[in-house]
Amino acid sequence: MSEKDPKSEMVTQAGTLDSPAAGAPPAAGAQTQETDSKPVVIQTRALSKVYRDFWGRQKVRALKALDLEGCQGEVLGLLGPNGSGKTTTIKLLLGLLFPSEGEALIFGKSATDVSKNERIGYLPEESYLYRFLNAEETLDFYGRLFDMPAEVRQQRVDELIRLVGLDKARRRQLQEYSKGMTRRIGLAQALINDPDLILLDEPTSGLDPIGTREMKDMILRLKSEGKTVVMCSHLLADVQDVCDRIAILHQGELKELGRVDTLLTVADVTQIRARGLSPECQHEIRDCIARHQGELLEMDNPTTTLEELFLRIVRDSEARPGQRAKVEGQESIARIQG
Ligand SMILES: Nc1ncnc2c1ncn2[C@@H]1O[C@H](COP(=O)(O)OP(=O)(O)OP(=O)(O)O)[C@@H](O)[C@H]1O
Ligand SMILES: [Mg+2]
Repeated sequence: MSEKDPKSEMVTQAGTLDSPAAGAPPAAGAQTQETDSKPVVIQTRALSKVYRDFWGRQKVRALKALDLEGCQGEVLGLLGPNGSGKTTTIKLLLGLLFPSEGEALIFGKSATDVSKNERIGYLPEESYLYRFLNAEETLDFYGRLFDMPAEVRQQRVDELIRLVGLDKARRRQLQEYSKGMTRRIGLAQALINDPDLILLDEPTSGLDPIGTREMKDMILRLKSEGKTVVMCSHLLADVQDVCDRIAILHQGELKELGRVDTLLTVADVTQIRARGLSPECQHEIRDCIARHQGELLEMDNPTTTLEELFLRIVRDSEARPGQRAKVEGQESIARIQG
């Protein structure tokens, strides 16, 4: 996650990648949002979606007046329980659905303008790939759709297969792939055209902890290359690890929007982490906190996360096959909160 001064980001952007100063002002009543001082890549204004039945009768109000902006180089997370409108938002941004009210702009153009598709990559919630093709054929097929010359295509296919860790399974038909492998080839397909904007619907679903970590690293790598990523998930830890900003949806309504670090900071608690403190020193720190009328909330050795532990054990097992994993001693980091 990038470290920026949150105060410098209280700017509503009007410029877009294609027309830096040409964007219209936000719709009346739209809230000022925290955004980077980078060009706006996605923008929704009072975006709403009502699903109707065969006779045109209202069935579900899936999205209600969503105002959202996403800037270049940012990872924006859509978070919310099942049925809260995340996939609907992504499909509206892609132009796969038409809004009932409001509008969605991508690179300053309407989401329904097909010319933007060349700059977009999409990993859908469910895979729509051809089951009888293998990984190479799949990526080659999508490369052809983007009119990539044969040489460039071949190079890109090799590069992506390696990137998503499917080198050993590159000639196996997709119908033989596990769920996690299907997710990986889906991501490779989404990146075939080297898109500037990547929309990922539940990117880590079905992935094991190693695959999840790799997916998160890939998302951060895309960000470091200046790409914009919009992802939705209900796996909170994944969102927290990679997203710069999050929008929390509930029943189609935007409930919260802001930088993850700002939203999660507990302003009135100070956390200190130190290594190598003697018991006397720790005692002094306790005294110091008491002298200053502070309240010591916690002072102990931190625990690692289950994800860290799992990854360490798997890596150890790969390095020393056939032996029981050696779990390193916990580092004694005195953690003080007060
Ligand atoms: N094609 C459709 N026709 C009718 N209703 C739909 C359709 N697609 C989605 N909905 C409804 O719209 C609402 C939002 O659905 P959406 O798929 O956007 O949710 P989501 O946040 O992606 O959920 P999940 O976490 O389960 O993927 C739900 O009530 C859903 O039943
Ligand atoms: Mg969904």
